[in-house]
Amino acid sequence: MKKRLGILLSGRGSNFEAIADNIAAGRLEAEIAVVISNRPEARGLEIARQRGLTAVCIPSKGLDREVYDRMVVAELRQHQVDLVCLAGFMRLLSAYFVREYNLAILNIHPALLPSFPGLDGQHQALEHGVKVSGCTVHFVDEYLDHGPIIVQRAVPVLETDTVETLSARILAEEHQAYTDVIRIVLSGKWRLDGRRVVIEP
Ligand code: GAR
Repeated sequence: MKKRLGILLSGRGSNFEAIADNIAAGRLEAEIAVVISNRPEARGLEIARQRGLTAVCIPSKGLDREVYDRMVVAELRQHQVDLVCLAGFMRLLSAYFVREYNLAILNIHPALLPSFPGLDGQHQALEHGVKVSGCTVHFVDEYLDHGPIIVQRAVPVLETDTVETLSARILAEEHQAYTDVIRIVLSGKWRLDGRRVVIEP
């Protein structure tokens, strides 16, 4: 049986699209069971609908974090989701959510964590003056961009870069790295040694 992914997003949805494209092209053995957004206007929801996927909006505005997360987890359970992929989902998860999907929630961040967590990682990196940045895919815990790191991809920061050009270079890596990590995690060929994710050959 194919493993079932639940995608959570808040906006554009290009990482979600890359995952969906890789599944469609046979590069990733999995299926997208549901796409959930906390924002009704998220372009990612529209893309999901166009692709004939189940797309659900659960607005988060004004709701207590755990109350909201219980609604999301119920939706994920209803669609028998095995692995939750945060793809530009701009919310912290509660301890409840993290417990319910223990070591089965992934996030992608556009910087080399633990540098530049939170919003606008690319802007933070550029402002700081680093010469190398990139993206990180990690397991999610209840802290911001914090859980065990699975894969990182580095890109150079050029003298001529703007936030836009750096973001585009990082995004191209994000689109490949996320699928690679989903494949690794679903294969089960990894273990946790403290905070270290050890990937078996
Ligand atoms: C991506 O760059 C992702 O790494 C970032 O949001 C963007 C979403 O783009 N996530 C974070 O900053 C999480 N802290 P997308 O909607 O096109 O996939």
